Amino acid sequence: MVQLTLPKNSRITTGKTWPKPEGATNVRKFQIYRWNQEDGKNPSVDTYFLDMDKCGPMVLDALIKIKNEIDPTLTFRRSCREGICGSCAMNIDGINTLACIYGLDEIKGDVKIYPLPHMPVVRDLIPDLTHFYAQHASIMPWLETKTNRPAKEWKQSIEDREKLDGLYECVMCASCSTSCPSYWWNGDKYLGPAALLHAYRWIIDSRDEATGERLDDLEDPFKLYRCHTIMNCAKTCPKGLNPAKAIAEIKKMMLERAV
Ligand code: SF4
Ligand code: FES
Repeated sequence: MVQLTLPKNSRITTGKTWPKPEGATNVRKFQIYRWNQEDGKNPSVDTYFLDMDKCGPMVLDALIKIKNEIDPTLTFRRSCREGICGSCAMNIDGINTLACIYGLDEIKGDVKIYPLPHMPVVRDLIPDLTHFYAQHASIMPWLETKTNRPAKEWKQSIEDREKLDGLYECVMCASCSTSCPSYWWNGDKYLGPAALLHAYRWIIDSRDEATGERLDDLEDPFKLYRCHTIMNCAKTCPKGLNPAKAIAEIKKMMLERAV
């Protein structure tokens, strides 16, 4: 994991309040977490005001407007703007979700935006996902085969392909893992809902020939069994997926092969 120099006292302070847009009648207040390790200051929450008659409907539209028109130093990740790349995940109004598909009209009152919780912060709304991605890589997120490669392609029946529905759609946004108390406290050893959902996706792929090794690797007091079915993952997933169910299915497979 990248080593970041965190402030000695990480208490969040009240930051700068930017002026309200002149002449606007439909104004909304945004409170946004700021932290820049290079300035040596504590994290703060800055306050911005936007004319909602001149702003798009999504939280990401507001962030882009603030960055473009008010404060170019505000830093966040985004790319696809349609819930596909997973890069704009953040904590909005207390919910881990994707800023590009979260409507401002879903939020009552002021809009409060923080980085995904319990992760080291690189800057402002950008969490350090190095460890999260390493955990994903550790579950071998690819087709593992032993038999000779077919001349054209590895075939799969329609029924077997359908078993991957509800799994393959994951965009690796980390909203689920960073909403999970077990991951907050044991994220160094517990793989967390996102990596385990992907593990299950490959375990049940009819074309994969490493099911035994995959299950062996998860037979560990921390990697899998630190899931206590709290269900925050399923509640928060912006793609409507259910990592807790995938984890339960892996646990069931572990039991079935033990008897
Ligand atoms: S399961 Fe949902 S919340 Fe978790 S990483 Fe995938 S898309 Fe994001
Ligand atoms: S910008 Fe790609 S998911 Fe939001």
